[in-house]
Amino acid sequence: MDRKKVTISDMQGKKERAQKISVMTAYDFSTAGLVDQAGIDVILVGDSLGMVVLGYDSTVPVTMDEMLHHCKAASRGVKSSFIIADMPFMSYHVSPAQAVENAGRFLKEAACDCVKIEGGSDMAPTVRAIVRAGIPVCAHIGLTPQTATMLSGFKVQGKDEESAKNLVKSAKDLEDAGAFMIVMECIPDLLAKEITEALKIPTIGIGAGKDCDGQVLVYHDLVGLFEKFTPKFVKQYVNLAPQIKEALVSFKEDVENGTFPGPEHSFPMKKE
Ligand code: KIV
Repeated sequence: MDRKKVTISDMQGKKERAQKISVMTAYDFSTAGLVDQAGIDVILVGDSLGMVVLGYDSTVPVTMDEMLHHCKAASRGVKSSFIIADMPFMSYHVSPAQAVENAGRFLKEAACDCVKIEGGSDMAPTVRAIVRAGIPVCAHIGLTPQTATMLSGFKVQGKDEESAKNLVKSAKDLEDAGAFMIVMECIPDLLAKEITEALKIPTIGIGAGKDCDGQVLVYHDLVGLFEKFTPKFVKQYVNLAPQIKEALVSFKEDVENGTFPGPEHSFPMKKE
């Protein structure tokens, strides 16, 4: 039976019934189709694509055009999963008006269901403006890769009392501003539990322990397609890169020794 389109109230209902929410990144038509067919609740077209697909060293260079291009491709592959479009660095920082205008493009041009923005309490007015325009917002706190330099690198956040308090406040401010969900990246598990229990909206963890309302991973990490580095919080379910390389070497050898294409891959001339 076909799965129905996942909605915000479905995800809210899952939190209320203590059922976990699954979130996975996808950046193209074929992968998004597989994620959707696997029954994953939410597809995140994350700006992590800058690193795992486009080869940048960070997510900072990712542009609106690049995000829209990938969001359009991914959303064409999706029937049911809820689709989050990640807003790239500097597409929502200049002013709430700039944020609303750019957020709207992900819904109008790329058929996404909502946008995600990084940042704590300072971003609450921006979240409020986007939500007021009728665009659902997923917030993202803790380790925020777009501004990792301000955090002195890719480090676990909220380890001391003051920064933990700030994260709790940020989460509440973002919920008050109208965010329907919050991603929490690289924060201690007990802090993530505290925030999850304090909020009415669902929390989605990545490196935030088991007590979040759901979990997200980057697809390329999960299937072993990104070989540059693997963060501690990743569980690799399959290691595809060596298998793909093996297949490519076999193809090269078949081409070089003339065993590909075989007759079964060729089109014989019709006999007169
Ligand atoms: O861009 C992304 O994939 C993300 C996840 C790591 C949450 O923001």
